[in-house]
Amino acid sequence: MITTIGLYILYAVLTLIVLRKIIIRLRLSKAKHPSLAGHSKMARRIAKLVPYYEIDEKRFFNSDGAPANIAELRRSGFEKLSKLFIEKSPNTIKHSESLEDFVPDVVFTNNYRVPFQYSNYVKTHLKLGNMVDASSGTQIKDLDGNWSYDLAGSYGVNVFGYDFYKACMEKAWERVKELGPVLGPYHPVIVENATKLKAISGLDEVSFHMSGTEAVMQAVRLARYHTGKSHLVRFCGAYHGWWDGVQPGIGNTRVTNDVYTLKEMDNDTLRVLRTRNDIACVLINPLQAMHPNANAPGDSLLIASGRKAHYDREAYANWLQELRQVCDERGIVFIMDEIFVGFRLAYGGAQEYFDVKADMVTYGKTLGGGLPVGVVCGKHQLMKRFKDKRPVEICFARGTFNSHPYVMAAMNEFLHRIEEPEIRDSYQQIDELWNKRVNCLNDKLVENDLPVRIVNIASILTVLYTRPSRYNWMFQYYLRAQGLSISWIGSGRFIMSHNYTEEDIDVVIQRVVAAGIAMQQDGWWWQSPKLTNKSIKKQIMWEMIASIFKSK
Ligand SMILES: Cc1ncc(COP(=O)(O)O)c(C=O)c1O
Repeated sequence: MITTIGLYILYAVLTLIVLRKIIIRLRLSKAKHPSLAGHSKMARRIAKLVPYYEIDEKRFFNSDGAPANIAELRRSGFEKLSKLFIEKSPNTIKHSESLEDFVPDVVFTNNYRVPFQYSNYVKTHLKLGNMVDASSGTQIKDLDGNWSYDLAGSYGVNVFGYDFYKACMEKAWERVKELGPVLGPYHPVIVENATKLKAISGLDEVSFHMSGTEAVMQAVRLARYHTGKSHLVRFCGAYHGWWDGVQPGIGNTRVTNDVYTLKEMDNDTLRVLRTRNDIACVLINPLQAMHPNANAPGDSLLIASGRKAHYDREAYANWLQELRQVCDERGIVFIMDEIFVGFRLAYGGAQEYFDVKADMVTYGKTLGGGLPVGVVCGKHQLMKRFKDKRPVEICFARGTFNSHPYVMAAMNEFLHRIEEPEIRDSYQQIDELWNKRVNCLNDKLVENDLPVRIVNIASILTVLYTRPSRYNWMFQYYLRAQGLSISWIGSGRFIMSHNYTEEDIDVVIQRVVAAGIAMQQDGWWWQSPKLTNKSIKKQIMWEMIASIFKSK
C-alpha cells in the first residue's frame, strides 16, 4: 500500500517536472519571431533548398508582366545608365574589375547588390566602380576625378566627416611615431583613453580589441564565465558581427546550440527571460529600434516592396528599461552593443540616449578615430578574467594588435575632439535636425508622387517603397547616377555624417528626388492592379519551382 502511494507521488512529481519542461519549451517557441529570421535553423535548411535561377535578358525588363512599351523604356533607361557609368568612370571600373577574380569580398558584394535572379545580368551589363582615392567634406572621389556625396558612411565609422578622422590619424601618427608598432608594452596614451571610456560608459573597466566582432566575442565569453550559464539571447534580425556565436542563421555553417534568437519588444521574450535558468546574457543592438525583428535591409532581399521600418524612441526606451529590470531580477548580463550607434546618438551613446544602464557595453567603428578597433566596457565583477579561488579556471582573451599605439593615439584624439562644446551641443538637437531633414525629403518625394519614403533613427536612414514592384533595387543605380555614393547593400541604409550642412542636404534631397523621377520615367515602377506584393512573391515561388523541374 505504502509503495503504491509512493509510486503515485513519484509519477505525479515526474509528470509535473515534464509538464513544466514542456511549458518552458513552449514559452521559448512562443518568444520566437514567426519570420524565418526568428528561426535560424529552419532558415538554414530552407536556404539549402532555394535553387539558383536567372532572369535572363528576354525577361529581365518585364519579369513583372509589364507590357512591351514599358519593357522598352526600362531597357533604354538601363542602357543609358550603363553608358553613363562607363563614360564617367572608366578607370575606376577597370581597376575595380581587376579584383573580381581573386578578392572574394569584391566577388561577393558584386553578386549580392541585387536579388540573385537579376544579379548576373546586372553584373555583366551595369558595371560599377568601387575605388576611391580622396575624401573631403561630405564627398569622396573616384579614380576618374568624380566627386560624389557619401551616403555609405564607411559602415558607420564616419560620424563626424572624413576630415575629422584624417586629423585624428595625423595627430596620432605625430604622437606615437617615436614608438612605432611596439606591442605588449603600452603607450601611456592608453591611460587617458581607458579613463575617459570609463566615464562615458559609466562602467568600471575597459578592454581593447581589434574589431567590433572581437569585442562582442569577449563580452559574451565573460558573461558566460561569470554567470556559469550557457546561453546568450540575441534579438531577431540584430547584427553583432560575423562571429558564428552571434550569427546562428544563414551565413554561418556551424550549428550554434547556445543562442536563443527571440522577438524584440515583446512580452513573450520577457517571460522567457523570467523563467529560464540557462541565460547568461542579453545582447542588444539599439540600431534595431528602427526595424525591430527585421534583418539589415539589403537590396539583395528587395524582391517586392515589403521592407518595413518605423522608429519610436520612447517605445524602444521603455522596452530597454523593461528588459533591464528583468535582467536585474534574474542575474542576466545586459550587454548593449553600441558598435554601430555609439557616439552617433549621444555623447554617452545609446545608454544616455535611451536612458538605460548596461552591465557591459561594446564600442567600435568610429571610436578608433579612423583606425580599426573594438572596445568592451563593463562592471568590475564581469570584466575579471580569473577567479581568486580557482586559479586555473581563467577566461582567456588576447589579440596581437589590441591596444596598438596608433589606434590608441587616434582614439585619444577622437575622445578629446568629441568633448568640444560644438560636438557636445550638437547631440542635443540630433533627432530634431535629422527628422527635419528626412521630413523635408519625404515631402519632396510625396510632391513628386514617387513611391519612396525614408525612415530614420537620427542620421541613419532607410528607404521604403510604397507601391508593389519587383524592381525597387534599381533605385540604387539611379542614386549612383546622381553622384550619390551608397554601400553595396544599396538603398537599405544611408549612413550620414554629421558634417552635412543644410546646403549639402539640399543637394542630396534634389538628387534623391531626381533619381526617383528618372526611375519613374524609365518605367521601373509600372503599376497594374494584378501586381501586389503577394502576387510577386507567388510568382517568384513559381519561378523557383519551374527552375527545379528545368534542372532535372
Ligand atoms: C552592432 C554591431 N556589432 C558588431 C559589429 C561588428 O563590428 P566589426 O565589423 O568591426 O567586426 C557591427 C558591425 O557592423 C555592428 O554593427
